[in-house]
Amino acid sequence: MKSKNIVWQDGHITRETRQDFFGHSAATLWMTGLSGAGKSTLAFATESRLLSMGIACFVLDGDNVRHGLNRDLGFSPEDRSENIRRVAEVARLMNEAGLIVVTSFISPYREDRELARTIIGADRFLEVHMATPLEVCEQRDVKGLYQRARSGEVKEFTGINSPYEPPLDPALTVNTQQYDINSSVDMLVEMLKSNIAISNQQG
Ligand code: ADX
Repeated sequence: MKSKNIVWQDGHITRETRQDFFGHSAATLWMTGLSGAGKSTLAFATESRLLSMGIACFVLDGDNVRHGLNRDLGFSPEDRSENIRRVAEVARLMNEAGLIVVTSFISPYREDRELARTIIGADRFLEVHMATPLEVCEQRDVKGLYQRARSGEVKEFTGINSPYEPPLDPALTVNTQQYDINSSVDMLVEMLKSNIAISNQQG
């Protein structure tokens, strides 16, 4: 920590009061997987479903966060670590505010995801592996980046010339080849519901 002489200030609102306000407790669904694995698609579909159930939710998405908060970061291992650290801090704040957070970042390094678990708190951190195989992601190549990585134009591209370390013990594994988007959202929501307290009627 760079700054000295700083003292934590306690607010008046407890975790329980926020939980009563929203009608549910908070957690972070931490999605990890290759580019093109379907993280963003599933994250935004899950957000819509949760809101329709009366559950307050917000998505933090890699491409979006890199347009603003993390616009100073690239794709070196160090920059990816800093990307994930900042996002974990934001997710923690949003959880503190009472929201369910869905994050959608490649987050290729186990060590970085473990730091995210520590920052957010193990009781609120639910790791979701989007296990779409590399061949399928590369075949889809929605953004054309795999082709540009193969030709050498895009450096340090995950799965091609930068590593991806799959989770060892995720709370959920989603194989997007096996399930359609609605069934995947069903699975995510069920997993979430079994990990949070819900007291509102719709939930
Ligand atoms: S992470 O590795 O730091 O977690 P993040 O999820 O924020 O990555 O950003 C990944 C997105 O950035 C991809 O969906 C892709 O659109 C874009 N991107 C651009 N360059 C790269 C690269 N070298 N490796 C991976 N993704 C890249």
